Amino acid sequence: MDTNLPEPAEQLPTPLLSALLKHARSGRQRWHMPGHLGGLAWPAGLAENLAAIDVTELPGTDDLNHPAGVAQQAMELAAAAFGAGHSRLLTGGSTLGLQVLLALAVGRGGSLLVSRTCHQAVVHAAALLDIQLCLLTQTGELPPDLSRFSLFPQATAADVIRDLERHPRCRTVLLTSPDYYGSCAELAAIAEAVHARGACLLVDEAHGAHLAFAPGVLPAAALAAGADACVQSGHKTLPVLTGGAWLHLGREALASGRLDAAALTRLIPVFQTSSPSFPIAASLDLARQLMALTGSRQIRLQLEHLEWLRQSLPDWLACLPSRRGAEPLARDPLRLVLTARDSRQVAAMPALARHLSADGIDIEFADLTRLVLIPSLWQSSANWQLLSDSLHRFPVPSAGGLADASSQLQELETRWLRQLDKTGLSFRVSPGDALLAPGVRASCRLETAAGRAAAQALVPYPPGIPLVWPGEVLTPDRVDFLRRLLDNNISINGIDAGNVQVLA
Ligand SMILES: Cc1ncc(COP(=O)(O)O)c(C=O)c1O
Repeated sequence: MDTNLPEPAEQLPTPLLSALLKHARSGRQRWHMPGHLGGLAWPAGLAENLAAIDVTELPGTDDLNHPAGVAQQAMELAAAAFGAGHSRLLTGGSTLGLQVLLALAVGRGGSLLVSRTCHQAVVHAAALLDIQLCLLTQTGELPPDLSRFSLFPQATAADVIRDLERHPRCRTVLLTSPDYYGSCAELAAIAEAVHARGACLLVDEAHGAHLAFAPGVLPAAALAAGADACVQSGHKTLPVLTGGAWLHLGREALASGRLDAAALTRLIPVFQTSSPSFPIAASLDLARQLMALTGSRQIRLQLEHLEWLRQSLPDWLACLPSRRGAEPLARDPLRLVLTARDSRQVAAMPALARHLSADGIDIEFADLTRLVLIPSLWQSSANWQLLSDSLHRFPVPSAGGLADASSQLQELETRWLRQLDKTGLSFRVSPGDALLAPGVRASCRLETAAGRAAAQALVPYPPGIPLVWPGEVLTPDRVDFLRRLLDNNISINGIDAGNVQVLA
């Protein structure tokens, strides 16, 4: 970045701007979203000119909410690049995309089959739209040696068929694939099963915007696998400004009438600001072009770097191979998940995250037993070398000394999994009413909240997957589990200095 930027005046501080400029000057290594790597992925000069292209709707710039000119052309090019029948550029992230998609495909008061492992954005969109949530239980574990690289199982076709039959009035299924850990659902088989039952398949592909650009090398993208529609956060894995997202409708979904593109022009302005940011939308346009021109090469390059890292890892650490034999790709190899090879050493992972941070390396997140890094497709070999060097500088943890702590963390993870995938949905009031209906809410200490209904989602963040949905009762087991997560330094949105908001 330009190091000649003026320092903000001390007597009139700009705390946020100052912190961001300080961070930008720090030279810290970025192994997290957004994927543009501080603008390094873009052509020279663009980053410096973002303010110059920040304009309003002018005769030559078109209108992102009502595209009819250059914005429409950009959307048509996006549809062609992603294999969609119709695409829209959004500037409020996949969060906005999910609101629009659920309004389009389910509508107010409709039903949706969804797993507890969905992002909070799904729960909130459903609350806004008074959508009835039907529970999808996911059982698709990776093989035993790989399952420890993820926190929870993915969806199989059998899961979707079983739960659609349990909820015959539910005509729409929403899956998250890939998830934050890179695990993918059995999308092609699921799409076939869903369509055979006359239902519609939506995919939250927030973490998978890059998949379309290396078919066969990466898991199939949602549209290629037959999904009717998907939303993708461009900023998570591609060189897109934060907030940039695509909403794609599939060709077959449009041809069959399952989804209607014209309705989007009615629905998008309901959720998106009337002043969507042109720089964000333009970065989506650019990322689409960069990916069409060089995406496949960049993906292969990063896979080579990943393989190099895997082979040069300290012996006690493990990450996944890019591909194992002829196995179908059940996960995105570009999501770099690190854990201890010996389960007695997993308690060292949080300390490893602190060590990397002290070495100037920022990762996407650490959960109880693993680290998740998002390599930009433009990550340099020097960055990979610095990461490897830092991993090697961490002292090898003692398996004996950490065994007890490690088994406690693993037990906690088993409870986490149980909370997510073995717990039914049972609301005292609907999520919409819990969040939005007029009424009295109170703040109480988490420890005294057992038996009360949550007035908001309680969400370990990242990965942003609610443990308690608005309107659900905080059972003693849930309260105890939330406390244990907090004690293990997992931050939980919705718990503020030990207080939670409950329905009075
Ligand atoms: C699976 C998933 N879906 C949706 C979202 C929301 O995406 P955005 O930040 O683009 O609004 C996230 C954000 O982390 C996510 O992980």
